[in-house]
Amino acid sequence: MENETRKYHQSVLLNETIDALMPESEGIYIDCTLGDGGHSEAILKASGPAGRVIGIDADPEALAEAEHRLESYRPRVRFINSNFSALAEVAWKEGLSQVNGVLLDLGVSARQLDTEKRGFSFRRAEFLDMRFSPSNGVTADEIVNSIPEAELVDVLFRYGEEPRARRIASSIVSARPIKDSMHLAEVIKLGSGYKFGKIHPATRTFQALRILVNQELEKLEQALVSATSILINGGRLVAIAYHSLEDRIIKNFIRSSSNLERINKKVIRPSKDEIQNNRRSRSARMRIAERHAG
Ligand SMILES: C[S@@+](CC[C@H](N)C(=O)[O-])C[C@H]1O[C@@H](n2cnc3c(N)ncnc32)[C@H](O)[C@@H]1O
Repeated sequence: MENETRKYHQSVLLNETIDALMPESEGIYIDCTLGDGGHSEAILKASGPAGRVIGIDADPEALAEAEHRLESYRPRVRFINSNFSALAEVAWKEGLSQVNGVLLDLGVSARQLDTEKRGFSFRRAEFLDMRFSPSNGVTADEIVNSIPEAELVDVLFRYGEEPRARRIASSIVSARPIKDSMHLAEVIKLGSGYKFGKIHPATRTFQALRILVNQELEKLEQALVSATSILINGGRLVAIAYHSLEDRIIKNFIRSSSNLERINKKVIRPSKDEIQNNRRSRSARMRIAERHAG
């Protein structure tokens, strides 16, 4: 399939990312969430002819997709299957002690939601896996079908900010064994008592499970520390979050770091046009910080 007909994830806040990173030739950039490679492609274009990208993704299928897309940039881009929490180690292994910019575009890609059959989507019946890396850790299936109800309530409150956590956890436990993602969504829809509003009644529960399965908040904190340690003086950290828990971590990390200067006072959000063209961008929030000697 050629690039023209292949359907890629639509990169969010793409121009804003390039404005923030200010890629230059000779610069080295780490894209911690390579996905389908859209942000990396824009960085490679803007940093031609000699800028380089180290692309990281925990999901091997995402890497394969990005490799295909970025074929023509190959000498300037590396594809690394790793968790981004280890980004500094990844850079060292590549022989780099410092880089000019680090990008984190968190969460799942449209392709993971729509085609990978990993249980991220509640619109189709899929095995409840939810791991970014299919070879690591416990699946969402094991969690929904085995953890005690009180623990499930806590997970839904904490990682989903789900006000009806108790009702939902109780209906999940009563309906065990939960067969697949669609079954789970149905159980939540009936058990929560939510009428359909702006979001599907299962949205917060699915978010909570994904965060727990992938230890997303812990990995994000580790990545922020790691990124700060390898940025050059004047290098930029750009982070795009899709829910308030991760955005809060990024905001507080930048605020409390003696090495980082906040560049945007107000969080950057997609324009009305971008949201109209790509509904999935609507929750995106971008923060930019610049590294300085502390
Ligand atoms: C929103 S998508 C990135 C899309 C990409 N910026 C683009 O333009 O195509 C997020 C990607 O980050 C990956 N990811 C999420 N958490 C990760 C982690 N802790 N370590 C490595 N990759 C991660 C996911 O597998 C997914 O491919």
